[in-house]
Amino acid sequence: MSVNLKSNDDLARMRVAGRLAAEVLDFITPHVQAGVTTGELNRLCHTYMVETQRTVPAPLNYAPPGHAPYPASVCTSVNHVVCHGIPGDKTLKPGDILNVDITVIKDGFHGDTSRMFTIGAPSIQARRLVEVTYEAMWRGIHAVKPGVHLGDIGQVIQRHAESNGFSIVREFCGHGIGRNFHEEPQVLHYGRAGTGLKLLPGMIFTIEPMVNAGGPGIRGMKDGWTIVTADHSLSAQWEHTVAVTADGFEVLTTSAGTPPPSAA
Ligand code: MF3
Ligand code: CO
Ligand code: CO
Repeated sequence: MSVNLKSNDDLARMRVAGRLAAEVLDFITPHVQAGVTTGELNRLCHTYMVETQRTVPAPLNYAPPGHAPYPASVCTSVNHVVCHGIPGDKTLKPGDILNVDITVIKDGFHGDTSRMFTIGAPSIQARRLVEVTYEAMWRGIHAVKPGVHLGDIGQVIQRHAESNGFSIVREFCGHGIGRNFHEEPQVLHYGRAGTGLKLLPGMIFTIEPMVNAGGPGIRGMKDGWTIVTADHSLSAQWEHTVAVTADGFEVLTTSAGTPPPSAA
């Protein structure tokens, strides 16, 4: 298995795809309100991607081996849904937490990013979970530079989540990205410093920790996509697409509305 290193040309196109993915999140933010359905959020994002951006929504009909084609253009994961929630008739209500995960294809390249939203006033625990997950993602991003190992990234993410009393989902990970939605390497959100692949300039991958308020266990729903926490505890996730540069990292999924980085 080999990791494909991006050229400067590829990187330029990945910057465009990354910004466009983030701009879908900016676009949908004012619509994320109590009373709206996740299906309506999907419909709004789909129209914005296809008609305004002229991007392709990568999730729509995405069918990795062993999966039925994904039936929507975005993923909407509410409360105890860990990831890959299928938009539908679920109405958002005050106190809910929601992840919206956007992947666009522009000019042959993918940009993949997700943010958490809180509806009304979330519980103290929910707010803390969302915040700690964001910090964990950023600790992972700040670790990115040539010569470090993937295990260094996993370790800082895992340590931050667990030292705050939360747990890391093991079954899903970040991933290389480029002309393919998911490519090598797998970027685990747990691990041991000094282990795993050594980073090189030109690698591009996502960092997208899923953090549960309770235990790390998950279950798949009968729809073949939706993943929930086994103990029904809340789960949060944030995602950026990141390039390894000559001396550090560049976050590609940034836009006017991207929340500021948290401390290293
Ligand atoms: N965007 C998700 C990720 O971060 C993948 C979603 S696959 C889908 O890797 F088919 F559910 F959309
Ligand atoms: Co991803
Ligand atoms: Co994603």
